[in-house]
Amino acid sequence: TRPLRVGIAGLGTVGASVIQILARRNEILTQRHGRSVQVTAISARDRTKDRGFDLSTYRWFDDPLALATSDEVDCVVELVGGSEGTAREIVETALTAGKHVVTANKALLAKHGLALARLAEQKGVALAFEASVAGGIPVIKTLREALPGNAISRLYGILNGTCNYILSRMEMEGLTFQECLKDAQRLGYAEADPTFDVEGFDTAHKLAILTSIAFETEIDAEAIYVEGISSITPLDLTMASELGFRIKLLGVAERNAMGIEQRVHPTMVPKSSAIAQVMGVTNAVTIDADAVKELTLIGPGAGGDPTASAVVADIADVVLGKAHHPFGCSVDRLERASRAPMQRH
Ligand code: HSE
Repeated sequence: TRPLRVGIAGLGTVGASVIQILARRNEILTQRHGRSVQVTAISARDRTKDRGFDLSTYRWFDDPLALATSDEVDCVVELVGGSEGTAREIVETALTAGKHVVTANKALLAKHGLALARLAEQKGVALAFEASVAGGIPVIKTLREALPGNAISRLYGILNGTCNYILSRMEMEGLTFQECLKDAQRLGYAEADPTFDVEGFDTAHKLAILTSIAFETEIDAEAIYVEGISSITPLDLTMASELGFRIKLLGVAERNAMGIEQRVHPTMVPKSSAIAQVMGVTNAVTIDADAVKELTLIGPGAGGDPTASAVVADIADVVLGKAHHPFGCSVDRLERASRAPMQRH
């Protein structure tokens, strides 16, 4: 069998890690899967930036849309980011051209996930986005593939590494919000516009994706109550600590008598709780379900290698021809979301 030819659009922290991981793992994955992955094409804003490896072996595209339709590409990996503009055009163009798409773009999925899933369904190609939520934690695969025996009643967690990093360092080291944010940016954790992190929108995008899969509902990020951490002060953290609590930015989705409720806000959690132990860039997701009871996944929520780990897992699914509905069930079924109406905030 010929290799799966991959084109990568966007070569930031995550894109560079994807290339390096594929280079180091390709031989073993080829043996395991019986088919190799070959990165054939790349596109990024800056061709000259030193990324620590040789770009000359890949076909370079100045125009990412040309990459998205290239005959040399079977699977487009979109790592540009943003819910509109270039990222959206790349994904729509690639799916329309019958290419598989792997993306880490939570903002895009939170806004246009249903339409993109429909397009993928129509074209019979994969739309995979494990890397879009909680970095290296395989939470989408867990919800979509590992829990068919369960009715899920609630999920909640720490879904933004930048915020958890900031809150952890403010509490432990007494640093200011701004100092911690700068470090998070320097380490490549924060969004291009860090407002998305600190005002809770990034958590909301991720929560909307998880809610759709967990509760088989149409994605509805607009229905989420959102409050970020930018007004949390060191004094808030100290006061909470004296009372035996930590402050964490949580995303919560639960089924109640009214329907599905989704919210994002700073939450006081008892220091003795499992979620309070999650510090730094680490994320955690707890799923309450009838058969498995309570399940908690903990792992790195941002950063090049952990996020690339999830991208590579999606590429491996494409290699194996795994044909999941992107959100776990058909778009038709998601659209009949009236079964579980969203509570508006
Ligand atoms: N800015 C995001 C975070 C990156 O800090 O969690 C991972 O989605």
